[in-house]
Amino acid sequence: MRRLLALPVLAAALLLAATGCDSGGDGPGTTPPDTTLAALAAEHDVLFGSAFDANFSTLEAEYQRILGSQFAVVTPGNSMKWDATQPSRTTFRYTNADAQVAYAEGRGMKIRGHTLVWHSQLPFWLTSGNWTKQQLLDILREHIQAVVTRYKGRVYAWDVVNEPFEENGTLRNSIFHRIIGPEYIALAFQWAHEADPDAKLYLNEYNAEGLGAKSNGVYALAQQLVAAGVPIDGIGMQMHVTDTFYPSAGDLGANMRRIGDLGLDVDITEMDVRLRLPATQSALATQASIYRSILTTCLAASNCKAFTIWDFSDAHSWIPSTFPGFGAALIFDEDYEPKPAYWAIRDALED
Ligand SMILES: *[C@@H]1O[C@H](CO)[C@@H](O)[C@H](O)[C@H]1NC(C)=O
Ligand SMILES: *[C@@H]1O[C@H](CO)[C@@H](O)[C@H](O)[C@H]1NC(C)=O
Ligand SMILES: *[C@@H]1O[C@H](CO)[C@@H](O)[C@H](O)[C@H]1NC(C)=O
Repeated sequence: MRRLLALPVLAAALLLAATGCDSGGDGPGTTPPDTTLAALAAEHDVLFGSAFDANFSTLEAEYQRILGSQFAVVTPGNSMKWDATQPSRTTFRYTNADAQVAYAEGRGMKIRGHTLVWHSQLPFWLTSGNWTKQQLLDILREHIQAVVTRYKGRVYAWDVVNEPFEENGTLRNSIFHRIIGPEYIALAFQWAHEADPDAKLYLNEYNAEGLGAKSNGVYALAQQLVAAGVPIDGIGMQMHVTDTFYPSAGDLGANMRRIGDLGLDVDITEMDVRLRLPATQSALATQASIYRSILTTCLAASNCKAFTIWDFSDAHSWIPSTFPGFGAALIFDEDYEPKPAYWAIRDALED
């Protein structure tokens, strides 16, 4: 049925292409209107973003058309992680990250760097070493200095430390915490700042968007870092949620406010709303209302400066392989048709 409906649209598009006019159309339909999500969000002083992977240029033409047009900021999904950038202690490898950065720069998009210090996707040489505290401090400093210097002035914001908390709000027992101690976090920010004083530096976390033990832990650490003069600019709120587990607008707004009171920004950095497959119409409607609620709360918070989704099409999402039985988490479907969530986002941005 969609194909049948698309025929007149296609005819109109061909006619417009022939006459060189823009349709400027709006409202629900099969084709996204010309005004991009990035342009609409810019009117609220918010960067609208997406993650993308290193193989983007091999993906469908529709993927590339949307990636190249709808976003003000992009986050390389994997190519800047430690296992990708430093395959051995003495080897740094930037092929994929360089290509993604060049692509974004060529289209005037900002780049969010992801991520410098994380317990996951670490190279084996690092996790298998029997490091002393001093050795691991040296390794951490060398890594941060090398990667941040590589993209100095080009990556506008870094997720410096990723997912350092347990669900109960204590610091995760990562290799860095275990061997160096909690000060690894402040040192990471310090080293990143020294390598690129103009980059905005974030602590990025999941399940810490609303109010609770984990977000209290993030808040308490943020308070300490600010009091100690550590160069941190904000908290990244990943926002990997489901249609039954997501922060209320009230809790999210309150958390954004208290972080703002510390002088810190908050960004939504990795949003998706995974659904049990096959996704029902009613689940898709709930999903749309969750995207709308989170975005509206961000727009209402003066310190929420970016809203990034973790890729944009259900054709390319980390969810189905990581959460078997779940998917349909993004705002375009597998055929690159805008979903109810896409229209809800537009609607919120146009309010
Ligand atoms: C693109 O890369 C991602 C992440 O590495 C991977 O999950 C996906 O399967 C790749 N897609 C294609 C079409 O190669
Ligand atoms: C790890 O290093 C410590 C201190 O240098 C040493 O005592 C210990 O035997 C080492 N363990 C292994 C498994 O190499
Ligand atoms: C917090 O959670 C971690 C991981 O489950 C656990 O090891 C630790 O003991 C917990 N701490 C407290 C104070 O509950």
